[in-house]
Amino acid sequence: MSENGDVEMHDASAPRAEAAAAAAAANPKGTVIGGQSVLPWVEKYRPQKLDDLIAHHDIIATIQRFINQNKLPHTLFHGPPGTGKTSTILACAKGMYGPKFGSMVLELNASDARGIDVVREQIRTFVQARQLFSTGIKLVVLDEADSMTSAAQFALRRIMEQYSSNARFCIICNYVNKIIPALQSRCTKFRFGPLGDSDVRGRAKEIAASEQLSLTDDGLEALVTLGRGDMRRVLNIMQSCSMAFDEVSAESVYMTTGTPLPSDIDEAFSVLITDGVEEAFLKMDALRISKGYAVVDLITGLFARAKVVKWPTAALSMLMGRLADAEYRLSLGCSEKVQLGAVVGGFAEARAVLERGKGAQAAAAAAASGQQQQAQG
Ligand SMILES: Nc1ncnc2c1ncn2[C@@H]1O[C@H](COP(=O)(O)OP(=O)(O)O)[C@@H](O)[C@H]1O
Ligand SMILES: [Mg+2]
Repeated sequence: MSENGDVEMHDASAPRAEAAAAAAAANPKGTVIGGQSVLPWVEKYRPQKLDDLIAHHDIIATIQRFINQNKLPHTLFHGPPGTGKTSTILACAKGMYGPKFGSMVLELNASDARGIDVVREQIRTFVQARQLFSTGIKLVVLDEADSMTSAAQFALRRIMEQYSSNARFCIICNYVNKIIPALQSRCTKFRFGPLGDSDVRGRAKEIAASEQLSLTDDGLEALVTLGRGDMRRVLNIMQSCSMAFDEVSAESVYMTTGTPLPSDIDEAFSVLITDGVEEAFLKMDALRISKGYAVVDLITGLFARAKVVKWPTAALSMLMGRLADAEYRLSLGCSEKVQLGAVVGGFAEARAVLERGKGAQAAAAAAASGQQQQAQG
């Protein structure tokens, strides 16, 4: 989880979408297959200008001001994935350098080696090299910098200082605490929060229109719910869904991502709070196998569902704790079936707490009415 509770792609929730999008991403140049262009939509619809970005208007306005005054500082963009960090700096760079982009911008991301040697050699060589006929300040973009070693970050600190007269750095990461404080303090920080639902909705509609996609209202809501403010995820789901189905509806969105349908979660929840342990387990396991759901996705759905029932605190916190434990163990690779058992057991325990609470309440009420009768007698 990121610091604002935004899930960092527990990617089990979108396995098929990711796979289809990965297939598209393997053709970044938009190779035509079977008469259809498979350019990934995240690239096709990447904002080209700062004006194309749909959210974070205050950040964009500030950066625009820096650029207009020719005073772009070193920057640090942080926040959950798919919120426009990379797009923002690329749009800035395109605006600032135009055709000189290639020679003035060095972009390194997690797939490039960025150990201490690269920082010392490649980055230093790039910022040192003088440009014939151009005097501008160069830009070094270090995308996904969370994965840089701290030795490399320390080396970077020196380079940033040494070459601040001819280069600016933009460090991009998901978790700001993975960046050493010495680098943080040399940068102006911008936090990119998850995109708002209405922004996501508007953009998804625009893209559906330009792709001539039939997008139903409930499909749009499903995209917003599953996207959780991550536009990359929304676009990947939309693209894979449109490849597999004629219509992007709630059902096709849930099926593409392998996410349990809300109706299945409702049914599972009612089984778990009424049936006995053994019966509930058999039904849940049958659901998991017949629909191909991952237990972690069932947990996510049940967790969201549990939050809206009006249970007393003791029972609810017991249930949430049990679900969280099972989710954690699944992330370590424990058996799906056994963890499903733990989920069923967690519900049984929470129900026991609930019953005890009701029993205690009834006893208290009986005692109170007994006292009243005595007093009257
Ligand atoms: N603020 C935004 N406005 C418009 N599109 C966005 C925005 N944020 C993300 N997107 C879409 O999501 C894709 C991924 O965005 P990106 O900038 O790479 O995210 P990040 O670097 O924050 O993970 C982009 O191609 C774009 O289509
Ligand atoms: Mg990025």
